[in-house]
Amino acid sequence: MHTLTAGRGLLFGGDYNPEQWPEPVWAEDVELMRAAGVNLVTVGVFSWARIEPEPGARDFGWLDRVLGLLAEAGIAVDLATPTASPPPWLGHRNPGTLPVDESGHRLWYGARNQFCPSSPVYRERALALVTDLAERYAGHPALALWHVGNEYGQICHCDVSAEAFRAWLRERHGDLAGLNEAWGTTFWSQRYGDWAEVVPPRRAPYLVNPTQKLDWARFCSDALLAHYRAERDVLRARTPGVPVTTNFMGLFKPVDSWRWAPEEDLVSNDWYPDPADPLFPVRAALTHDLTRSLGGGRPWLLLEQAASAVNWRPHNVPKAAGQLRLESLQAVARGADGSCYFQWRASRFGAERFHSAMLPHAGPGTRLHAEVRAHGAELRRLAEVAGQPVPARVALVHDWPSWWAMEEAGRPSDRLGVPDQLLAYYRPLWERGVAVDLVPPSAGLSGYALTVVPNLYLVSDEDAEALTAYVRGGGVLVVGPFSGVADPNGHIRTGRFPAPLRDVLGASGEEWRPAPEDRPVRCAWADGTPFEARTWTELLRAEGAEPVAVFTEGELAGSPAVLRHRAGAGVAWYVATLPHHDALAELTGRALADAGVSGALPGPPPPAVEAVRRGPVLFLLNHGDREARVPLAEPAEDLLTGARVEGAVTLGARAVVALRP
Ligand code: GAL
Repeated sequence: MHTLTAGRGLLFGGDYNPEQWPEPVWAEDVELMRAAGVNLVTVGVFSWARIEPEPGARDFGWLDRVLGLLAEAGIAVDLATPTASPPPWLGHRNPGTLPVDESGHRLWYGARNQFCPSSPVYRERALALVTDLAERYAGHPALALWHVGNEYGQICHCDVSAEAFRAWLRERHGDLAGLNEAWGTTFWSQRYGDWAEVVPPRRAPYLVNPTQKLDWARFCSDALLAHYRAERDVLRARTPGVPVTTNFMGLFKPVDSWRWAPEEDLVSNDWYPDPADPLFPVRAALTHDLTRSLGGGRPWLLLEQAASAVNWRPHNVPKAAGQLRLESLQAVARGADGSCYFQWRASRFGAERFHSAMLPHAGPGTRLHAEVRAHGAELRRLAEVAGQPVPARVALVHDWPSWWAMEEAGRPSDRLGVPDQLLAYYRPLWERGVAVDLVPPSAGLSGYALTVVPNLYLVSDEDAEALTAYVRGGGVLVVGPFSGVADPNGHIRTGRFPAPLRDVLGASGEEWRPAPEDRPVRCAWADGTPFEARTWTELLRAEGAEPVAVFTEGELAGSPAVLRHRAGAGVAWYVATLPHHDALAELTGRALADAGVSGALPGPPPPAVEAVRRGPVLFLLNHGDREARVPLAEPAEDLLTGARVEGAVTLGARAVVALRP
């Protein structure tokens, strides 16, 4: 990242699709980019058909000219391998490159993303193109970053994928006996006697084997990763000094980003919050923290966001004035070294003709473009933030295989969802201005005073042992319901639950009891103060832990709802229900006190104000519509305005300050 920001400061720009425009427009683009402070553009994401109009042909002339113009203007290029959208000729001549859905239907060209990740023909064609692209632009002064594919997530159920799945399964389970054992095929007469019988989870009359689906999810992520790696290796071999990224989509279910991120030189993300979601600032912060954490805390890049409205929700509300700036600075505050958009110039045609852009159809003399320019200019003032870390003492555990297994059909309740639980446990930390890293369950936790596990349905013995050792060594652990239930094959661990965490939690259970949805679950803290929860309860008993809250109604009246256990030098909490936000905030406060962790400010920031420290800079972001006043411990300079502030700072609606002592 340093090579990207050195001499440039924070990166600012967007996807640039010059192939949609006649050449005279390009010169105007570049001039307007300079005026807007753009210093990085992503070029070529969907340009396969333009570069290779027919099989084997190469037309790089236009790209030479575009890159030349950008280089002259000092604008760096994030050059994409255009392999996310093969041209129609590929699917037409080689229907096997087109993906097949779980019903066996082939998906056609005419949109984008139509490829089978396991197709050797697709792979060969893609790599041939990537090789020529890399050879052509190696050493080009504009080339600063490689962007492999786009938003990987394709899934294909074809016969070629089935063959690749079998090879993957052989690696994982050895022989058919191992597969039958892992998949539990004595259930419903599913025994496999020949590898040829083993297929992806295709459309079937009733619930499909959950381990077959879990392994399939693992395989699909790995198959795409193998393709990403193949492209990356071609690039690395030809342009060793140029960093490589691919744009993630945050908490995107099909891709196990913990396995992908170490394969990148720089982690980047695309982020399109839903303006109708009242919690979107919290969800954004969680997503940004995840992206930073995927890169091990190093700076990351916000590669795509909308300048205003998107076009792909049913009803697309524009961003309020100031929102573009607020959302961009939120990413910077949480470790991004650049804030880029989809896209530079709004398309006139195609499926995204109504998607906002940095340069709208109405041209540069617009409210939106004025905001873009002003923001580009003010990002220059934050140059010193580039490269700075966002240190955190709280870890939030998230695991993709556990997510896949937990949300499989046929469970006690589909009202319990992994992203919802992550957000529920993250929100009170965000509200207190407490910095959080996301971590996989296998992460070393010694640097964290508090570790929060909203849900870890599937856990390996080693990871459960590591969590136990963490607590005994002095860590504070909070574990949410329906955790520690299954082993890595998704088989239920027998005995009282959560079997592998029972000792450290000092409690165990015997029944998961989803609650009627028309009534709250009533609970009370030990001092009798009532609170409400919802959806989920468990029949538990304390085995050394102190019940800090109990259920107060129905068959579970008097039985523990929240437990706290001193184990070794640490403390472990278990939460057996879904407490309403206020109660979870109370619980979080107690766990933070156990861990001795405080937030970015001496006290919690006012409602809707986000407080986060990046290096020496304290960012305060007001996501609310009302003015908010934040007392300050020390005098500081607002890097965004140069103003000196002392005593307190008053933030208007959607205002941001970046305070350096
Ligand atoms: C992203 C994609 C972009 C564009 C954008 C529109 O998913 O990478 O190419 O389609 O969405 O919001």
